[in-house]
Amino acid sequence: MSCDEMLRDYEEETSVSVSSVVPVEERRDKFSSIHSSGFRDLLLKPELLQAIKDRGYEHPSQVQHECIPQAVLSMDVLCQAKSGMGKTAVFVISTLQQIQESINDVVVLVIAHTRELAYQIAHEYQTFSKYLPEIKVAVFFGGLPIKRDEEVLAKNRPNIVVGTPGRLLALVQKKKLTLDNLRYFIVDECDQVLKEIVMRKDVQAIFIRSPCAKQVMMFSATLNKDLRTVCKRFMSDPVEIIIDDESKLTLHGLQQYYIQMEENKKSRKICDLLDLLEFNQVIIFVNSISRCQALTSLLLEQNFPVLTIHRAMEQTERLSRYQQFKDFQKRILVATNLFGRGMDIERVNIIINYDTPEESDTYLHRVGRAGRFGTKGLAITFVSNRSDAEVMNSVQERFEVGIEKMPTQVDVSSYIGTSENA
Ligand SMILES: Nc1ncnc2c1ncn2[C@@H]1O[C@H](COP(=O)(O)OP(=O)(O)OP(=O)(O)O)[C@@H](O)[C@H]1O
Ligand SMILES: [Mg+2]
Repeated sequence: MSCDEMLRDYEEETSVSVSSVVPVEERRDKFSSIHSSGFRDLLLKPELLQAIKDRGYEHPSQVQHECIPQAVLSMDVLCQAKSGMGKTAVFVISTLQQIQESINDVVVLVIAHTRELAYQIAHEYQTFSKYLPEIKVAVFFGGLPIKRDEEVLAKNRPNIVVGTPGRLLALVQKKKLTLDNLRYFIVDECDQVLKEIVMRKDVQAIFIRSPCAKQVMMFSATLNKDLRTVCKRFMSDPVEIIIDDESKLTLHGLQQYYIQMEENKKSRKICDLLDLLEFNQVIIFVNSISRCQALTSLLLEQNFPVLTIHRAMEQTERLSRYQQFKDFQKRILVATNLFGRGMDIERVNIIINYDTPEESDTYLHRVGRAGRFGTKGLAITFVSNRSDAEVMNSVQERFEVGIEKMPTQVDVSSYIGTSENA
């Protein structure tokens, strides 16, 4: 069956306080030692093992333990695992393991739903390929001149390309990005990418321009049955690592509370919380760009060290702000859902939903920016109307998590440090 045929039926579809913090390395060692096997048991290239060690990874997480052995055998993989458990390293390590250094063309393509996530993934590839000097990584996304991407492709042809669907397709259509030798096709946050009809069409158009014989891998923390079916149309006989019991998606290191209040009390409350809570870094989520701008101005007026990121900003500015937050230059980020999935900022230990998200899946992804990889964290959601309450009820039912009213005092040790039962 040709790639085209595999996807034919699918074409017609319509849309459906810093000092008190335990150092990151210490936290990781404690958590990852739960898993007895080491990366050595995965029989990886020495260059890769050394990079993994340098990165501070001691033992594979459960999802890495389950997926990497199959993924290095070129099996197609559909993988769901909860937020912050190291899905990125599954595809980064398994593709770097398989890739031949002598190849002089694009062999790995990774698609992500946002530019910042693509940028983050490309950085991970750079980190893990540091002892594989011939491997070249490039990242392409909209908002920056396409000419630059074209020059990279012409002059310094990468082996690994990470990008967002629209820009990747534009490069493919202009025949600047050719995929004749592609061997690995990866979609991160696959449910998000494939549920949006525009992105889905772009992904499909890229897919059918690459050889049939390739390994396809897709990843997300949320993957409902319908989207699983969609994902599998791109795959043949995939290994499925799926969490059917949604209660297992809950991060147990995360304390989760709600605060009920009227809309006009939120701005006072957020300032009180930022004064009261001990945080390394905090992300405050809102539901629109205008609310992002308004809240940022308010917090800046109150002298809080705030940054903001949203889609209405110049791309260079977006990346610069992402980097500042990642580098711990600012401790508070006000963001839209743009930052709600996949983003990995190690020091974030508090998430505040200034606006309750519109869907329970979005809640799960947003709060998963804290409590990552066995760390503790705190998630607080402001609930101000009936529909907010409905979303929170659905979160509690689906993920079997008790989200209680925030008490006046929260013990700092409950949200800073290593979690015993992540
Ligand atoms: N084996 C490991 N040992 C120590 N740290 C690890 C290991 N694997 C991953 N990590 C770290 O855990 C954090 C979360 O990893 P990653 O971003 O890949 O999670 P994810 O499963 O993709 O989450 P999300 O669903 O939110 O995208 C990262 O900081 C990563 O470097
Ligand atoms: Mg991820």
